[in-house]
Amino acid sequence: MQAWHPASWQQKPATQQASYPSAEALEIVLAQLAELPPLVTSWEVESLKQQLAAAERGEAFLLQGGDCAENFSDCSSPIITNKLKILLQMSLLLIHGLNRRVIRVGRIAGQYAKPRSAESETRAGVTLPSYRGDLINGPEFTAASRLPDPVRLLRGYGRAAMTLNFIRALSDCGFADLHHPENWNLDFVQHSSQAKEYQQVATELSNSLRFMEALIGSDNSEINRVRFFTSHEGLHLHYEQALTRRVPNRDGYYNLSTHLPWIGYRTAALEGAHVEYFSGIRNPVGVKVGSGMSAEFLQGLVTRLNPERESGKLILIHRFGAGAIGTQLPTMIETVRRTEVPVLWICDPMHGNTESTQNGYKTRRFDNILAELGQAFDIHRRQGSVLGGVHFELTGDDVTECIGGARGLDEAGLERAYRTQVDPRLNYEQALEMAMAIVRRA
Ligand code: PEP
Ligand code: CO
Repeated sequence: MQAWHPASWQQKPATQQASYPSAEALEIVLAQLAELPPLVTSWEVESLKQQLAAAERGEAFLLQGGDCAENFSDCSSPIITNKLKILLQMSLLLIHGLNRRVIRVGRIAGQYAKPRSAESETRAGVTLPSYRGDLINGPEFTAASRLPDPVRLLRGYGRAAMTLNFIRALSDCGFADLHHPENWNLDFVQHSSQAKEYQQVATELSNSLRFMEALIGSDNSEINRVRFFTSHEGLHLHYEQALTRRVPNRDGYYNLSTHLPWIGYRTAALEGAHVEYFSGIRNPVGVKVGSGMSAEFLQGLVTRLNPERESGKLILIHRFGAGAIGTQLPTMIETVRRTEVPVLWICDPMHGNTESTQNGYKTRRFDNILAELGQAFDIHRRQGSVLGGVHFELTGDDVTECIGGARGLDEAGLERAYRTQVDPRLNYEQALEMAMAIVRRA
């Protein structure tokens, strides 16, 4: 077998890749990308790995969430701040309710490439390539827009850098100060019942903080900042390779486009290019697991993705659907346990619960999402395992994409603000409600 290097994936079959009209144009862009500075640092990546190891032991909880697909046009102040706000608010509820540290990871600053079930899409007799995310082509149904354009890779890198720059600036100043959680309030929710319950928790937490500081006679400057990490599906392997770097004084290669890249369900083939690429980087890595994966396959997957059996290195993100998790997860936990490879289990209750309405809207029911999560907590507990986190598709905005929740959004209500290009997301209120439900079920 050939030794791993950042391009060794190119010797393996790579599914879900873009077909560019000009290989030469792609090479020019990749060479430019390879010269640009990294977006994250190896220190941050290693620090995340340590925190994930704590989650593996049940001492911390991973909250991963964001859009199914970010659009380049989402790179704007309100969209970024609203997403940070909802993740910060959910994390406060989780810290308060679970009494554990919460590791905040956004599906943000790079979630621009999407796997698709169909290569092409037909509308009114016209067939064009599927939209694969803004990193590759455009959503508009025209031949020009759907043609993969490598210049989009540079634009994606730029959008990721701008988004991350704003996140870092916000995390480092008053906005993220835990003494002032009122900074995270969203205007449109003053009257919702979730907002009231959240408010009580926030006030209680900032009061305890002030009490602690009065007691020890100093203010805790660390509390003025929150840590926030980024993640995206590492789908477009040329892009990921261009941002894979060596760093001084550390061994190996880091993917410095994001802290936590993950392998999607559709690209987790053992002999495929994605597993090959991910098997060699030093980052913690996620992989989506679900129905139809045999014991042999899972054993191969965890041993390839965590060859040194490091803690905090490998996250198994299970996504079965509320109807299937009960029969499948217990066996999966046992299979992985037998390998003795340490993993962090987290639950993605979104991707196994997608359905379409009569009007053709792709949606998910709040009750199914919650049912899968509840079962996930119960099953891990019964098996003597730890559910160390959750993975959501959500937004800080007032969209109408998932059915249900306290406000009782129904099928007809989806039309009001259905904005996603790909998968349906929990809106702000549904996301807060979900955090409260986790606390009750964990
Ligand atoms: C996703 O996370 O948006 C996704 C496509 O999920 P999965 O790979 O689990 O289908
Ligand atoms: Co999705």
